[in-house]
Amino acid sequence: MELMEAIKSRKSIRGYKPTPVPKETLAKVLGTATRAPSAMNIQPWKFTILGGKVLDELKEALQEKFLAGVEPHPDFPPYPRLAGAYRNRQVEVGKGLFQLMDIAREDKGKRIEWGAKMIRFFDAPNAIIISLDEEVDGFLSIFSLGSVSQTIALAAVDFSLGTCIEHDPVYYPEVIRQIAGIPESQKIAIGIAIGYPAWDFPANKLESAREPLDNIATWHGV
Ligand SMILES: Cc1cc2nc3c(=O)[nH]c(=O)nc-3n(C[C@H](O)[C@H](O)[C@H](O)COP(=O)(O)O)c2cc1C
Repeated sequence: MELMEAIKSRKSIRGYKPTPVPKETLAKVLGTATRAPSAMNIQPWKFTILGGKVLDELKEALQEKFLAGVEPHPDFPPYPRLAGAYRNRQVEVGKGLFQLMDIAREDKGKRIEWGAKMIRFFDAPNAIIISLDEEVDGFLSIFSLGSVSQTIALAAVDFSLGTCIEHDPVYYPEVIRQIAGIPESQKIAIGIAIGYPAWDFPANKLESAREPLDNIATWHGV
């Protein structure tokens, strides 16, 4: 697939077919994605790739914490409450998803159900946890983890795979550490759901908006 086409066609996938992704395919996606740039080429990323019974166990354990109302405590905290244009964009994507999923604002039950699905990696057959050694924690590494995450998402497109980069499933890092065997010395940054998209799943129809370039770019001398 042409690069520009792949960039344009990538979108977050929130409904998957149950078919597991072959290990060789996951290895190709991840191996290629490690061509991503990283500050000083330190390659701070560590991947833990999950599927089968281990992933089922993790999904169950994360969901249990979520449904019990345990306060999320990820290694890297989410934004405090957003405001202005940022809040508007957040609300827009949330509204779009809820509309497609037929979840009314006041329907607490369905909202909780959606939250549980989200923490279960949207029931994807595979998931990738990206972590980093504490000794290289900091801006440059987190930036580099972003670069490898997007490269994974793009490489996945070439194999007709869908992904959703997700912060929600890493809300309870001790659960992931225990089940996926990630040592205490590593911080858990992000999860990526990966699998073959169920294209008839309503949320997968979402076309998230982007701010026009003119609103975010300032040009000088060009
Ligand atoms: C760092 C990061 C964290 C994210 N966490 C979540 C998440 O927890 N749940 C979710 O549904 N989407 C999550 N997303 C996906 C974004 O909502 C999505 O990328 C954005 O709305 C743009 O849509 P698109 O990916 O379809 O283009 C995350 C994306 C990034 C980059």
